[in-house]
Amino acid sequence: MKERIKQLLADINALNVSNSEEIEALRIKYLSKKGEVSNLFNDFRNVAAEEKKEVGKLLNELKNKAQDKINQLKEAFEKSNDRAEKLDLTRTPDPVELGTRHPLSIVKNEIVDIFARIGFVIAEGPEIEDDWHVFSSLNFPPEHPARDMQDTFFITKDPDVLLRTHTSSVQTRVMTNQKPPIRVLCPGRVYRNEAISYRAHCFFHQVEGLYIDKNVSFADLKQALLYFAKEMFGEETQIRLRPSFFPFTEPSAEMDISCNLCGGKGCPFCKNTGWVEILGCGMVDPNVLENCGIDSSVYSGYAFGMGVERITNLKFQVKDLRMFSENDMRFLEQFRAAY
Ligand code: PHE
Repeated sequence: MKERIKQLLADINALNVSNSEEIEALRIKYLSKKGEVSNLFNDFRNVAAEEKKEVGKLLNELKNKAQDKINQLKEAFEKSNDRAEKLDLTRTPDPVELGTRHPLSIVKNEIVDIFARIGFVIAEGPEIEDDWHVFSSLNFPPEHPARDMQDTFFITKDPDVLLRTHTSSVQTRVMTNQKPPIRVLCPGRVYRNEAISYRAHCFFHQVEGLYIDKNVSFADLKQALLYFAKEMFGEETQIRLRPSFFPFTEPSAEMDISCNLCGGKGCPFCKNTGWVEILGCGMVDPNVLENCGIDSSVYSGYAFGMGVERITNLKFQVKDLRMFSENDMRFLEQFRAAY
């Protein structure tokens, strides 16, 4: 009898059903008046007196177990049935929220597209650099104050491992690895040790350009930049170049565009000057060409560099630079329509 009870317990544990008729059949098989469990109860009187206590307990356990199992199956079946009834196959699916491109990516892509149309290809390089690629090759003398213009994050001083302060380091890499003609655009993140505020951050993004060939002149530079300004900010945009200084270009200039908010009439944004600065540029210093193994008596070139945040601000008037790195969805979602 004990064996039989154990066998039934195991059977009941393993039960499964696929429809409600099967559940009813099981109930009849085990729990009805003529069912397996009732039969065992009928046989109970034949159990030897000294075993009655133990077998009685087992029998009660079996009965409860059978009851529980069948209830459980019923419940599970009703639940799944419930879901099937509520599933409306004719309903249109929930719309999937599409992410938005980051405003800096939108603007960087636009800059890259504009220059790609006049033959510039992308070159990339590491963010962790050494002194040679970031400074020395670019004609920064060891103690020259120009190094202070770009407060640098050093990872180690000796050997000098540092975070690049501009993507001109990529230009050095290209010049040492490729033969002219060279026409590259170097987008990327750069780092400077600045106090973080609404108008400065310890990292930002640049796109720098480099063109080296025979007979490249300042007029070529100016024409390329005028084309860029008109494509980026509109056909009516004007440019002006102001003399400036960079160790790696000679002559050097900074370029302003006519204020794209007031059209050059003067407004708070351009501090009533009608002009806003957007980039640095110049003719590649012959020393730089020689440092990178390019014969400066045969080749000349121009270079320019701009901050992507700056251009993005001009396009979208983002007042606080920190917004770009906070990942606030309310900010980022506003650029949904911009690309
Ligand atoms: N590398 C300069 C900067 O980071 C920008 C620049 C590039 C200026 C090329 C002139 C020519 O400020």
